Amino acid sequence: MNRLSTAALMAAAMSGSLVGLANGRRGTLVQQAPANTSHFVNPYEGDGRAAKAGAKLYQRECAPCHGKSGEGFRNAPPLNRADMKNAPPGALFWILRNGSLRYGMPSFSHLPEAQRWQIITYVRSLSRIPGTVTNDNNK
Ligand code: HEC
Repeated sequence: MNRLSTAALMAAAMSGSLVGLANGRRGTLVQQAPANTSHFVNPYEGDGRAAKAGAKLYQRECAPCHGKSGEGFRNAPPLNRADMKNAPPGALFWILRNGSLRYGMPSFSHLPEAQRWQIITYVRSLSRIPGTVTNDNNK
């Protein structure tokens, strides 16, 4: 990611948290992502090797809360939902950048951007796993 889009991302992150403070909770985190993250492109979209690398990172960083297959656990929502697969990559990137500290989702801004995109590539493949739940009635 170049400098310009990183700056745009930081602006997006800041406006996102301001909106959050002003409005309280509105829908899922994905739905709360600011519109100006929507143009972010996942450099690894459809890249099987990146998804594999993301799977390893996911097991280390995310599985303890979201479950081995993204099935969710306690207050960590399932990630193997159809709406996760269809979520704009920029929304997921925004979530990993900022977390949702008040509700127990850490920020992963300490991971290199490439690793965050690899995790996102993997998360978006989770809903192809049999036994997937969909959240379509829940919107
Ligand atoms: C310490 C526990 C914890 C860890 C580790 C964690 N999460 Fe979360 N995550 C949460 C919680 C709790 C929420 C719900 C936050 C909320 O409702 O605001 C959440 C929410 C999310 C959401 C938004 C879901 C939605 O319905 O909009 C995504 C996407 C997500 N996490 C992805 C990840 C990924 C990818 C990782 C690994 C890099 C990860 N999380 C690691 C606890 C965790």
